[in-house]
Amino acid sequence: MQAHQSPITDVFGRPLRDLRISVIDRCNLRCNYCMPKEIFGDDYPFLPEHELLSFEEMTRLVRTFAQLGVEKVRITGGEPLMRKNLDAFIADLTNISGIKDIALTTNAFFLPRQAKRLKAAGLKRVNISLDAIEDDVFKQINGKGVVTLPVLKGIEAAQQAGLEVKVNMVVKKGMNESQILPMARHFKGQDVILRFIEFMDVGNHNGWDFNNVVSKQEIIDTIHQEMPLEKAEENYYGEVASRYQYKDGQGEIGVISSVTDSFCGTCTRLRLSADGKLYTCLFASSGYDIRSKLRAGVADDQLTKSIAELWSLRRDRYSDERSELKRTNRPKIEMSYIGG
Ligand code: GTP
Ligand code: 5AD
Ligand code: SF4
Ligand code: SF4
Repeated sequence: MQAHQSPITDVFGRPLRDLRISVIDRCNLRCNYCMPKEIFGDDYPFLPEHELLSFEEMTRLVRTFAQLGVEKVRITGGEPLMRKNLDAFIADLTNISGIKDIALTTNAFFLPRQAKRLKAAGLKRVNISLDAIEDDVFKQINGKGVVTLPVLKGIEAAQQAGLEVKVNMVVKKGMNESQILPMARHFKGQDVILRFIEFMDVGNHNGWDFNNVVSKQEIIDTIHQEMPLEKAEENYYGEVASRYQYKDGQGEIGVISSVTDSFCGTCTRLRLSADGKLYTCLFASSGYDIRSKLRAGVADDQLTKSIAELWSLRRDRYSDERSELKRTNRPKIEMSYIGG
């Protein structure tokens, strides 16, 4: 096997460290800020089977990325647990030298059935999306009128299987800011890290408006008044969430502030879509088609060279530019297609 190369860096000196792989663009939910049901209806052109990268193709790519410095792989969707045999894929990834962390972002519906198998395959942790603790609010958001119980059961199943759990709550004004405190109260002391995410202008259909963003500061102030918090150090270089600990020792929360306090300066993430396109930013308009290279029989060294070149030319810093009001209205990829 080829020796590990020194980590590659982009135009701004940012190393390539993380790969987020979307394994499927479909989801069983229709959250209004992500896959609004009016757009993602019965006739929406989801990717056909033959367009999806096979797990063998993805595994080969991860091997190449590991040689270029990638240490962490996050599996996303759509809803990744809708792709069959995901556990076998995870088991293959755990055998790749250099990959230290494998995680999954999911809505948890299929976790009661799959958590044990995923853990046995080598998965360590899951980030679970849940935007409200009250059924009435959750039903309004997820586009399918489903209640919170299946998600709470998924969280329980993950914990029972020995997976570390984080819960992601997207906060949008007029949608669920009423749930900030109830969610914090519910998960405090439960061995779950609850993270609040500022509503972002991803995709082309989520009707984003700055007036609907609840800022990191507002979120922290709201919780701190009732349950005092103190800032905590980041767990790893370029961590997306800012961490805060409860002063009474009952755990921690995180806030992901891509809008009011962006973090492009330490962004080490490359994204791979389910149909084999590489995106150097969540807000990119177009991707680099690596699938056609794979299917044309490209040799390993050529594959490595193409990816290294793509990263070395990277100059994306969309969220920083948004803060500097340099945002353009070009089309963007959909969140459900690229997995956040
Ligand atoms: P950890 O490995 O547990 O720290 O996970 P993570 O926070 O990197 O991943 P997760 O899939 O849970 O994402 C949480 C939120 O952060 C989602 O809304 C993502 O879209 C957002 N996010 C993750 N990476 C980036 C990024 O590079 N840029 C922006 N703007 N948002 C990101
Ligand atoms: N803004 C912020 N977060 C979003 N997510 C999906 N759409 C948005 C958005 N517009 C979150 C999901 C999931 C994670 C991958 O991204 O809720 O937790
Ligand atoms: Fe599905 Fe997650 Fe998007 Fe909701 S946010 S529609 S659960 S992919
Ligand atoms: Fe990275 Fe783009 Fe997100 Fe900035 S906006 S942190 S460059 S993915």
